[in-house]
Amino acid sequence: MIPTTIILKTENYQLRIPNESDIDLVFSASRYPGFTDGMLWHPPETKEECLLPLQSSFKAWEEETGYTFTILSNKNPEEKFGKSSIRKTKTPDIWNVGFWVHPANQKKGIMTEALGALLRFGFENLNAIQIEAAYATWNKASEKVLSNNGFKFAKYLEKGFLKNDVWVPENEVRITKEEWESLIRG
Ligand SMILES: CC(C)(COP(=O)(O)OP(=O)(O)OC[C@H]1O[C@@H](n2cnc3c(N)ncnc32)[C@H](O)[C@@H]1OP(=O)(O)O)[C@@H](O)C(=O)NCCC(=O)NCCS
Repeated sequence: MIPTTIILKTENYQLRIPNESDIDLVFSASRYPGFTDGMLWHPPETKEECLLPLQSSFKAWEEETGYTFTILSNKNPEEKFGKSSIRKTKTPDIWNVGFWVHPANQKKGIMTEALGALLRFGFENLNAIQIEAAYATWNKASEKVLSNNGFKFAKYLEKGFLKNDVWVPENEVRITKEEWESLIRG
C-alpha cells in the first residue's frame, strides 16, 4: 500500500494526494474555454460536482489501481498548479499517465518537471516495466511534455477517445523502465 502521506519532490515542485481544498483550482482551470478538450472529462457546472472525481481518486488509491497527485510549489505549498495521475492498464506492470496544468501557469515547464517525479514513482514505487500515455493528435503541449520525458511514439489510434459524440484521434506513446534508467543516468 502506498501511504497517502507520500510526497513526490522535484527541484521546484511537490506532488501530494489531492484534497477538497484543491477543488477551487480544478473549477477555476475548467472555466477556460477548451481546457478539457484533450481530456475525458467535461467542465463541471458547480464546485460540488468536483467532489465525485475526488472520491473516485481516493477509491483508486485504496484499491491500488491509480494514484492522483496535486502539483504544488515547493517554496510555497499554498500555490497549486495542476494534477497528474498514474493508473493501471489492463496489462500487468504497464501503467498510464495523464496530467493538466492550470492555464494561468502553463508554458513555464511545470508539467515537464512534475512528470519526471511521476515516472520515478511509477518505475520505483509501483514497479512498472513500462509507462504509457495517449494524447489527442492536435495536443502539441502534451506531445512536448511527453517527448521531453523520453516517451516514444508507439501507435496512432484513430478512435482515441469519444468527446461530444465525436472520435478524437490520439497518438499513444511509451517509455520502458530500461529507457527511463538510461535517460536519468545521462
Ligand atoms: C499539456 C499541459 C499539461 C502542458 O503543461 P505545461 O506545464 O504548460 O507544459 P510545459 O511548460 O512543461 O511545456 C512543455 C513544452 O510544451 C510546449 N508547449 C506548451 N504549451 C504549448 C502549446 N499550447 N502549443 C505548443 N507547445 C506548447 C512548451 O513550450 C514546452 O516546450 P519546450 O520543452 O520546447 O520548451 C497543459 O498544456 C495542459 O494542461 N493542457 C490542458 C489539459 C491537457 O490537454 N492535458 C493533457 C491530456 S493528454
